Amino acid sequence: MKKLTILSGAGISAESGIQTFRDSNGLWENHSVTEVASPQGWRNNRELVLEFYNQRRRQLHEVEPNDAHKLLAELEKYYEVQIITQNIDDLHEKAGSSKVLHLHGELFKSCSCNNKNLIYEQKEDIKIGDKAADGAQLRPFIVWFGEDVPLMKEAARHAKEADIFLVIGTSLQVYPAAGLLQDIKDTCLLIVINPDDSMGYGKRAVVMKETATTGMKILFDKLVNMA
Ligand code: APR
Repeated sequence: MKKLTILSGAGISAESGIQTFRDSNGLWENHSVTEVASPQGWRNNRELVLEFYNQRRRQLHEVEPNDAHKLLAELEKYYEVQIITQNIDDLHEKAGSSKVLHLHGELFKSCSCNNKNLIYEQKEDIKIGDKAADGAQLRPFIVWFGEDVPLMKEAARHAKEADIFLVIGTSLQVYPAAGLLQDIKDTCLLIVINPDDSMGYGKRAVVMKETATTGMKILFDKLVNMA
């Protein structure tokens, strides 16, 4: 089987009703990244950080995967599919994808604020006073700005091994994730789905100026034929 590696971002979940970060009215327009998504923000005001992610987690209980998530899961019949997502939602898994790498963490997990290896399932709010086994406050299991991205090495391997690399719903503004495009082989087919085609992907990219669901519906049969 050929290997299909996908790099997904907030745009793939937009049609499920989850706000992106950098589109107009995106999350970062109404929140300060430093306040809610950095170690400094956590040191300054834990309650604010917890509330920001508690709200996101509550919303995640209400949303469903869309056709783009579902079609990617369906492609496992034809390809060795590896999803690398920057998203902290669980919509790829809910749609049935079996190999999902969450580069930036997962909303439905928490960890000790002193040890990111002490990880717990977290479906409900995290409150001040909720503690990990080491006695430290629980925090969202999220990679904040300025923190290491421990899964990058594994992600880079999946990018290198790809016969087809599909980039869907990401502004590619955030590194190291965006750098994965540099890791693909010369023979790898690079496809991008994004309604905003103003980013420079380089000449070799096949750019589909579509939303995630429309783009995936167009691409699905073509990918099946190329398998
Ligand atoms: N279908 C496909 N793409 C879409 C759609 C849609 N329906 N709607 C918007 N987009 C595109 C936008 O054009 C934009 O390029 O999705 C992209 C969303 O970009 P960002 O909001 O920057 O999200 P993302 O690229 O995932 O951000 C990366 O930044 O703040 C962090 O940690 C956060 O993981 C996130 C990282």
